Amino acid sequence: MRFIGKPLVFGLSLTPFAWLVAATFGVYGLSLGANPVETLLEDFGTLGLRFTMFALAVTPLRRLTGLNWIAQFRRMIGLFAAFYVTLHFAVYLVLDQGLALAPVIEDIVKRPYITLGMIALVLLLAMTATSTLAARRRLGKRWQKLHNSVYLVGILGVWHYWWQVKSDITEPAIYAAVLTGLLGIRVFWRWQRQRRVKPPVAAASPQSAA
Ligand code: HEM
Repeated sequence: MRFIGKPLVFGLSLTPFAWLVAATFGVYGLSLGANPVETLLEDFGTLGLRFTMFALAVTPLRRLTGLNWIAQFRRMIGLFAAFYVTLHFAVYLVLDQGLALAPVIEDIVKRPYITLGMIALVLLLAMTATSTLAARRRLGKRWQKLHNSVYLVGILGVWHYWWQVKSDITEPAIYAAVLTGLLGIRVFWRWQRQRRVKPPVAAASPQSAA
């Protein structure tokens, strides 16, 4: 697993991209359907959100199963989240909006779900730029603070999706439920940790001795 793990996860993570590229160029009769731009936009968005969830799932999975070696994939999975969200944005900017910057800026300012997406993208790019060991050393404690924004990216990503759905909210609701579980378990662990380190109130109070 030590030697094949990373290439395997890399290959699996890149497969949807290869599939979408093949479908774009009609390789093996694959196709993006009647509205190729919409398909690319939605598929890259969905992949970005799923990889964000996968990145958030690594620690709970590791702690619950004791499979500590899965931690080595977290960085790669996070980078794939940024990769797919960047492609999602690129499709929106180039294919959907034809690189017309004025309407794009207007969208970012006036359409709240796009504003949320933009904030999430900026955070993901900041985490990508500081994902190296050298950046980690240079930033010290600030590194962890910045990389904790992956929780916020998850929330913004689900919110961004939920806000644009017109009628059937089933899918964003499933993502919201998964995210609640992934964040909820961390809150629970933190609460448990704080309870363990706090001294019992009765023993600490001078009155209790009287
Ligand atoms: C600059 C940033 C972003 C822009 C401009 C943007 C734009 C869009 C647009 C225009 C749509 C299609 C809406 C429609 O069909 O009416 C969309 C869908 C979506 N976006 Fe984004 N987005 C951004 C960031 C993100 C981020 C950070 C995530 C996830 C982490 C994300 C996940 C999604 C998902 C899951 C969908 C729905 C796909 C579906 O309908 O199956 N987006 N986005």
